[in-house]
Amino acid sequence: MRYDAQPFEILENTRIADGIFDMRVKNDVIAPLAVCGQFAHVYVPSKTLRRPISICDKQDGVLRLVYQVKGEGTRLMSQMKKGDSVDILAPLGNGFKIEQGKRYCFIGGGIGVPPMLYAAKQTENPLVITGFRTSSLIILQDDFKNIGAELVLTTDDGSAGRHGFVTDVLKEKLGEFDEVCACGPTPMLKAVAALCAENNKPCQVSLEERMACGIGACLVCAVKIKRDGRELTLHVCKDGPVFNAEEVVF
Ligand code: FES
Repeated sequence: MRYDAQPFEILENTRIADGIFDMRVKNDVIAPLAVCGQFAHVYVPSKTLRRPISICDKQDGVLRLVYQVKGEGTRLMSQMKKGDSVDILAPLGNGFKIEQGKRYCFIGGGIGVPPMLYAAKQTENPLVITGFRTSSLIILQDDFKNIGAELVLTTDDGSAGRHGFVTDVLKEKLGEFDEVCACGPTPMLKAVAALCAENNKPCQVSLEERMACGIGACLVCAVKIKRDGRELTLHVCKDGPVFNAEEVVF
């Protein structure tokens, strides 16, 4: 797998929802290497650790990174300006495995929604289920519509779209697709994985874990995986972030 740390030019860094920003960064060498489900590790000056941000989309040497301000590092990132240079280590991790000829259901919860866009673009007639806590956090609805996805919006509090959880929709749509790809908070992934297992639907999950090095050199992102009858400790950053849901010990 090839990755590198290189300067990217910031083309845009705009707020698109409450505490959520859309950054477009250009590097003609690194950006074209990215596949769906991988992530970029962004260096923020004055912070020791990079910030892992999922790749939301890729086009013509440009990566789109949609991120939420969660602490000092992402707050500084949100203040970066168009024309600035940002050091990014990318593309990292193993992404979603997409097979042509299958209908996929992409499920995103909160800031787990962005990587679903680039993944859904790789497939025919995708079903996309997005869930947010409340209406002020909703993102990327027009982007999914523009790629022709069948799109369902849910909010936990009923302030927009359907009142409820992504799993409520998933239960109703089980007969309409072949495989699920999901990214979002762990309780959501656990519920999606259980529903898929009960109904014999293959499911890939992208895990959101704290990360440090991003390349398998520390153990900050350890995850327990069942494989060949054994329980292994793997790295989300290097072995994931996408795993077969049946292998993950939630
Ligand atoms: Fe260091 Fe994964 S973040 S091993």
